[in-house]
Amino acid sequence: MSERRVVKIVTGQPTSDGAGVRLRRVIGTQDLDHLDPFLLLDEFKSDRPDDYLAGFPDHPHRGFETVTYMLAGSMRHQDHVGNRGELIAGSVQWMTAGRGIIHSEMPQQKDGLMWGFQLWVNLPARDKMTAPRYQDVPPEKVPTVALADGASARVLVGEAGGVSGPVNGVATQPLYLDVTLAPHGRLSHGLPTGHSAFAYVYDGRARFGPLEDSTEVAAGQLAVLGDGELVNVATGDGTARFLLLAARPLREPIARYGPFVMNTREEILQAVQDYQRGTLLG
Ligand code: CO
Repeated sequence: MSERRVVKIVTGQPTSDGAGVRLRRVIGTQDLDHLDPFLLLDEFKSDRPDDYLAGFPDHPHRGFETVTYMLAGSMRHQDHVGNRGELIAGSVQWMTAGRGIIHSEMPQQKDGLMWGFQLWVNLPARDKMTAPRYQDVPPEKVPTVALADGASARVLVGEAGGVSGPVNGVATQPLYLDVTLAPHGRLSHGLPTGHSAFAYVYDGRARFGPLEDSTEVAAGQLAVLGDGELVNVATGDGTARFLLLAARPLREPIARYGPFVMNTREEILQAVQDYQRGTLLG
């Protein structure tokens, strides 16, 4: 079995988005513009209300999927056609923007810890103008599976330890695991050959790759994994928590402008025009 190695490490960069929410951008930076089909990864983590209270007021999306996964805190999601959802600790929202949505994500707390991730996953050209779709998954619907040697994972989408995650029907066949690896733990997890893959460590540290050629990755760092059939992860004296993701690359041209991700510049201009004219939603 061929093992995936760490081919690149990037460190999240402090930035702000929405109405001034402070966050750490890990994918979608100069260091890592994208990792096909992943277009963006943000971690927001703060117990200072000033960092998050302004939230993400109304803004549009077209042409891709946004995935919000909460570890702590709560936000209310609302869109222009009346869809609404509560994003609470442990829940995941997989939103396929398709041809267009205009939505907001606003904190439902005045203080306390807000911690979570937003991921953008590209859609294939044939699906970019599809109807919007929401998969709002409450915490209790996300299975936790015990894996070997001190490892457990919450399975958001894809399969681990014979258990499938609740999110389905995604074109790029993603795997999204939230893994906890106990001290001196070991995890060996199969990933489809040819799929892009990365691990983002958000607590502690762990070594990724073959025993004789592993790379240490610390909290706040993302490891891009080279190709292979599986990845090995090991911890030292501390517990590590990390996101493990993989998906089928699209290998299509990317035209990107703010909240719109299409294949050509003309399609971007069309999206901007549709938004300005109020016809984004069709
Ligand atoms: Co959004």
